[in-house]
Amino acid sequence: MSQSPPLLQVSSLSKRYGRLVALDAVDLEVACGSIHALMGENGAGKSTLIKCLTGAVRRDAGECRLAGEACDPASPRDAESLGISTVFQEINLIPHMSIAENITLGRESFRYGLIDRKQARQRAQGAIARLGLAIDVTREVGSCSIAVQQLVAIARALDVRAKLLILDEPTSSLDRAETSQLFEILRRLKTEGLGVLFVTHFLDQVYEVSDQVTVLRDGRHVATRATNQFPRLELVSAMLGRAIGPASSPERTDRPSRESTHAVGVSPVGSLSRVASITPTRSPSPGNTRELLSIRSVSRAGSIFHADLSIEPGQAVGLAGLLGSGRTELAKIVFGVDRSDAGSMSLDGAPYSPRSPREAIARGVALTPENRKAEGIVPNLSVRENIVLALQARRGVWRSLSARRRQQIAGELIAKLGIKAAGADVPISSLSGGNQQKALLARWLAADPRLLILDEPTRGIDVGAKQEIERLITSLVDRGMSVLFISSELAEVVRTSTRVTVMRDRRTVADLAGESLTERSVMEAIATHG
Ligand SMILES: Nc1ncnc2c1ncn2[C@@H]1O[C@H](COP(=O)(O)OP(=O)(O)OP(=O)(O)O)[C@@H](O)[C@H]1O
Ligand SMILES: [Mg+2]
Repeated sequence: MSQSPPLLQVSSLSKRYGRLVALDAVDLEVACGSIHALMGENGAGKSTLIKCLTGAVRRDAGECRLAGEACDPASPRDAESLGISTVFQEINLIPHMSIAENITLGRESFRYGLIDRKQARQRAQGAIARLGLAIDVTREVGSCSIAVQQLVAIARALDVRAKLLILDEPTSSLDRAETSQLFEILRRLKTEGLGVLFVTHFLDQVYEVSDQVTVLRDGRHVATRATNQFPRLELVSAMLGRAIGPASSPERTDRPSRESTHAVGVSPVGSLSRVASITPTRSPSPGNTRELLSIRSVSRAGSIFHADLSIEPGQAVGLAGLLGSGRTELAKIVFGVDRSDAGSMSLDGAPYSPRSPREAIARGVALTPENRKAEGIVPNLSVRENIVLALQARRGVWRSLSARRRQQIAGELIAKLGIKAAGADVPISSLSGGNQQKALLARWLAADPRLLILDEPTRGIDVGAKQEIERLITSLVDRGMSVLFISSELAEVVRTSTRVTVMRDRRTVADLAGESLTERSVMEAIATHG
């Protein structure tokens, strides 16, 4: 062959975890100056492939070549020195260090034998500015939102002179502007000859930025094609391993029909209530105002200036707004993580001012957090124990669930949500990112709350499961549960919610329902300066 070798060439890469075959003889090639999307359902093996490539885990068999040279890094740091820079799915930053230190860690320059902090700051500032951001780089990473953390991880990866840049779901927490900024940078790097391997669950982004797509399914390579010759429906069916009929296409944009709830195998209706052994019907108590949760003029120094919000029983209310607009902060107040300084809240007509999540849980409020790693999963516990955690907390220490009940509850939810795990007793950390997210959702469904707050519940979840979660929300609402749904994906918010409250600059600025609720009207409310 007279042609120069591909930038990255992976052949017959295999990896097992115990009996589970995570990768089965996978081949992949990434060319210089190209953006290659890697797609597949949750658990397909995308992150495992990246971990094997970068030495984060040892591969069992197979070969990797980088620019023709055998490439077998012992660790991600080692891979970095070979020219592979990676942003992992579970962002690996050191929370109590500053943004600048995180960006330059391991690559510091020294002055008189000491780390040159000024230079580190300037370098980090440059890396952040390249992403079009204005963030104080002396801030501690742990105090930043998950989106900012994601951007810091990207800035760190871009700070390296790399030949190959690997990004595992880098945009899962970013808003549109940040995503397009990132894409602009990727396109520029591409013209400089860099190769990019990019994992995402967002189809639009694949078509917007990638040149080639590779699809993995159940650890196997199923397709590699030029993106512009890979129609969406074919791509989705390659991922799911079945043809997509019009009735079940994950790309449908209409609201999931209520009658079709059972068709997707998620039928939380009767059985979930049975699971949680809590009375299935909640008739409004006499004298009930038609509000389940009411938030009036709530504020908290430094996090919320002014918030009004109301949710009726059996209603899904969306909370929309840009990152940093105060959505997560408001959710934390409702869940008792933070306390408000002013204003009032009521739940079911009674004053509500939880001093801790425990108190909120006891009142029937649940929250699936945005940051599953830091606030959600308990990595050393099994999938089962992670799932029953909230229900157990709600029942209190004196009414513990029997082992049989726990098994039954976890087993049912694993089946219903299609959580891919080798069993209920494997550690939750052995699940793929998207499956961990589903397990967290299962935790709160098991507790059968009256108000379920979902903060970016579909982050990192594949196309099929996203639609299932939307349908699940719809069916929970039909059963009388109230849902506060926070998502950056406007189409998703508009489809699932009957009302949408919009936040801007830490205030609630609009409340849209009925005719006036459209993706466009929400976007306008988010964007208007006033
Ligand atoms: N440390 C581990 N121990 C045991 N099994 C693991 C471990 N890490 C991953 N697996 C399993 O390997 C399979 C592939 O997981 P992987 O994380 O590569 O999926 P993924 O395609 O990245 O999915 P997602 O879209 O959810 O991130 C899954 O079945 C997962 O449960
Ligand atoms: Mg993954």
